[in-house]
Amino acid sequence: MTPRIPVCAPVLGSSERAYVLEAIDSGWISSAGELIGRFERAFGALCGARHVESCANGTVALHLLLHAIGVGPGDEVILPSETFVATGNAVLYTGATPVFCEIDERSWVIDPADALARVTARTRAIIGVDLFGVLADYGALRAGLRRLGRDDVKLVEDAAEAVGSTADGRPSGSLADAAIFSFFGNKTITTGEGGAVVTDDEALGARLRFLKNHAMDPRRRYFHPELGFNYRMTNLQAAVGCGQLEHAGDLFARKRRVHARYRAALSSVPGVRFAAVPEGQVVVPWLHALIDERLASEEARDALLARMLERGVETRPFFVPLHLFPYFSPYSASCTRGGPGALPRTESIAARGLCLPSGAALADDEVDRCIEVFLACREGL
Ligand SMILES: Cc1ncc(COP(=O)(O)O)c(C=O)c1O
Repeated sequence: MTPRIPVCAPVLGSSERAYVLEAIDSGWISSAGELIGRFERAFGALCGARHVESCANGTVALHLLLHAIGVGPGDEVILPSETFVATGNAVLYTGATPVFCEIDERSWVIDPADALARVTARTRAIIGVDLFGVLADYGALRAGLRRLGRDDVKLVEDAAEAVGSTADGRPSGSLADAAIFSFFGNKTITTGEGGAVVTDDEALGARLRFLKNHAMDPRRRYFHPELGFNYRMTNLQAAVGCGQLEHAGDLFARKRRVHARYRAALSSVPGVRFAAVPEGQVVVPWLHALIDERLASEEARDALLARMLERGVETRPFFVPLHLFPYFSPYSASCTRGGPGALPRTESIAARGLCLPSGAALADDEVDRCIEVFLACREGL
């Protein structure tokens, strides 16, 4: 039997192994240790940020950041509904109200006009999500906020899926007031579990460091002037990350190469559509996502994915839009179909979207097999 092609396997090499052994041999396996600072410096160089605060995962990185910039009860935070659940959960953890907005029909990232139309006196932040590696238009969001006289609204980049992508030469993570990344096992750069907040704002950086370390007074051990968190990355996680960053360029190139192969084979297939890459962007795709216009419903899409799995190709559907979850219903009443804030574009794109195997180490013949299985399984749809 031909082996199953997983949706996204990590690529771990001899440097990762060497750094992990170094961490073990040093005895530093918790959240102190030399490799943490080393990973933060190397990651800062990669994304052009002055300050990198490593974290236990991307979800807590986003919560930490929102908390640090003062988001709390009574505030509203605008975000696209089409994202991984963690983006919305982080808003709820702060006690603020999530306000869901539309994505762009072609690029599938936040629609700036729709987001700006939802700004109210209570808006404290807008989170742009760089879905599948395509970068949100932070310039348009910033300009729109200025037009509204709302320079006080913070722009946050959820770059969990976009390490390596650039817009007009500027790397992901450097496009908003601050950004977060995820280094989960299926991400382009992984530390197993892991995340980071990046910013050029040194004062914010110092506050993030303080808060993630139980808010312990740096001058007085075991004195905690306010409520903090234990959101730190371990030296073992950082060890994997240090190894990954040594071959980041190769990982990015491999991702782009696999994506180009999918696009070359499938873009001209009637009904198949990839995300349009906005002008000036060089995207390092995370998952290789496409929409199949032939799919009449979410059920039809899921049946297609089940058929592909039977033939040894693992896939993922697009994220279920957050406004459709029961526990977000208190915040999504206006988003229901036909309501004033309805999100028909988001719902239609999410129902017809799927992600093909995306591991950086996929060989050409494996990519070709995925393409062949996809085309065969959609026959007769
Ligand atoms: C858009 C987005 N935001 C946040 C996260 C949360 O990251 P983590 O899984 O590291 O907690 C993820 C990832 O999985 C994500 O895709």
